[in-house]
Amino acid sequence: MKRERRILITAALPYANGKYHLGHARSTYLPADIFARFQKLNKADVAYICATDEHGTPILLNAEKDRKKPEEYVKYWHNYFDKLFKEFGLIYDIFYRTHSKENKKLTIEFFNKAKKNGYIYEQEIEQYYCEKDKKFLPDRYVTGKCPYCNAEDQYSDYCEDCGKAFMSGEILNPKCRLCKAKPVMRKSMHYFFTLNALKKEISNYLQFNEYLQKDVKNYVKQWIKQGLKDWDITRNLEWGFKVPGKKEQVFYVWWDAPIGYISSTIKWAKQTKKNWEDYWKSKKTEIYHFIGKDIVYHHYLFWPAMLMSVKDKYTLPKMIPTRGYLNLEGRKFSKSRNWSITLEDFFKVFPADYLRFYLTMITPQASSDANFSLNEFKKRINDDLIANFGNLSRRALYFIEKFFDKKVPKPTELDAKDKGVITDVKKQHEKITKLLEEVRLMKALQEVLKCSSIINTYFQEKEPWKTKNPNCLYVTLNLIKGLCIELSPFIPFSTNELWKSIGLKGKAEEQDWSKAFELSIKAGHEIKSSKPLYKLVSDEEIKKLKRVLGKNLELKEELVELKNFKKIKLRIGSIQRAERINDKLLKLKVLADRERIMIAGIGEQYNPKELLGKKVVVIINLKPKVIAGIKSEGMVLAAEKKGRIVLLTTMKDITENAVVL
Ligand code: 2FM
Ligand code: ZN
Repeated sequence: MKRERRILITAALPYANGKYHLGHARSTYLPADIFARFQKLNKADVAYICATDEHGTPILLNAEKDRKKPEEYVKYWHNYFDKLFKEFGLIYDIFYRTHSKENKKLTIEFFNKAKKNGYIYEQEIEQYYCEKDKKFLPDRYVTGKCPYCNAEDQYSDYCEDCGKAFMSGEILNPKCRLCKAKPVMRKSMHYFFTLNALKKEISNYLQFNEYLQKDVKNYVKQWIKQGLKDWDITRNLEWGFKVPGKKEQVFYVWWDAPIGYISSTIKWAKQTKKNWEDYWKSKKTEIYHFIGKDIVYHHYLFWPAMLMSVKDKYTLPKMIPTRGYLNLEGRKFSKSRNWSITLEDFFKVFPADYLRFYLTMITPQASSDANFSLNEFKKRINDDLIANFGNLSRRALYFIEKFFDKKVPKPTELDAKDKGVITDVKKQHEKITKLLEEVRLMKALQEVLKCSSIINTYFQEKEPWKTKNPNCLYVTLNLIKGLCIELSPFIPFSTNELWKSIGLKGKAEEQDWSKAFELSIKAGHEIKSSKPLYKLVSDEEIKKLKRVLGKNLELKEELVELKNFKKIKLRIGSIQRAERINDKLLKLKVLADRERIMIAGIGEQYNPKELLGKKVVVIINLKPKVIAGIKSEGMVLAAEKKGRIVLLTTMKDITENAVVL
């Protein structure tokens, strides 16, 4: 088949360095996959490329922590992602690695060419050096005290507490992470890439490429205005690709990582007997890089500049779809604070399609952030996916099974309604095609659901359960087949499953997008099964995932009412009466703005008697809550002190109802 378009799609390469959370799936891997699946259905010549990003200091540090050689460590994580991504339904043409011979060769080639063209120069810099270990120490190998907020144990480039970035040599009491000795400053020669020399070319690229995302383009232009710094592309490290002519230096991970997009294509082309240059150097090629907003600088500036600097006819990216961060129940994901759900956690409870569906529904075409809410997830799956599409397909198949012995009935002449629904759905299909071309995936999915609703309405009006109307079942089944194709980029597993149930050959994901709504299922075709495709999400299952988040979430739910801290009214109250309800709970009568009964969970820490007369801090504007059958009209504040809960008490001479500032 002659294919009109040639499209290269990449998803940002995951570091081979530990698990990724749902945020990465939403921002990068899923959108790239939906788009690649759509373009494959649309019969473009697609190369869909990904790899693990295997160099850099954090990887070396973690390998050392695990007492593994870095080669062994990255191999482990490569295999981990390979398997996980398959479970998620990602269908890369190749999932390769940056620590490969193809990437090494090309990385050095890029360096040599950019240098020859005058875009790389050498300069001396000062760096930490450990005289005991006899080596230069990259930022992450030096820890010390933050000169701005005095936080201890910070890396020498950045304070995780106050968020300030440091200049080299700025951190207080620097220590070598390996031996704890104090490092000295020592000079060495590094290679720099002259990003600034390409300023005009980059500005033009941003200016004249109408497909680049506007919201991102605007802040990249600001960066350019503020001035671009040349970029140190070498590191004194033992892990990575050696810089030609240097004994102790490797390329900075961000130099060889994006080159991994090309070298992985080279590997794939070799395997499939294609010409890789067709995908990277031809005018015909359209290149799409899917990324998260944390790596905008690297993809909108460094990468095009690198491609320009070698002067080798590389095609610049057409689109760089950029998505924002994902919060979890309103809070930032954080591995260290145990506030995270991984893909694996999720797959233990739900099918991958549920996640693909929900994540798409919360991902507009913008770099704005989104929120993952488990309750909302349940609602979306049950109300949008199952009640709409799931039920429609189940019912249509069921009536064909029940009334026509699994055989698609022979239609009579189609009436206006039959024809109307076909026309409407085809119109809708055109709209969806356009949205997908523009990578507006959430909107496209919403429109597919609308398509499903249109068919549902038609089905309801025709009442085939009463009328056994053959036209209705014939038309509906054919349109469901179309929906199956339309939905397959989003939810490939269940649509392939449905494809089988309809008794069709091959898979939904292999069909021809342009023929989705042709009435190709003929009378007499036998369906296979009408068993339900989906299972409703239950509270029990949601609880299972909440348990992954553990205590944090319970605490969070209790504090939901306090969302807007400024609105909380804190007062001093004196405890006038205290009674025990059970081991944990005490009933207190507190005089604050007025007398209030408050139930407090401090029974394990306090005896009622010792509380009498104490002045405590209370919240007085919470919604009353019934606890242990008693209405509680406020909250007594407590804090944790060395693992023990203590009440926030105050000096005796402060009066009741004093406002706490
Ligand atoms: O930020 C990251 O997770 C990087 N590993 C992305 C690399 S993308 C590409 F340029 F290689
Ligand atoms: Zn040392």
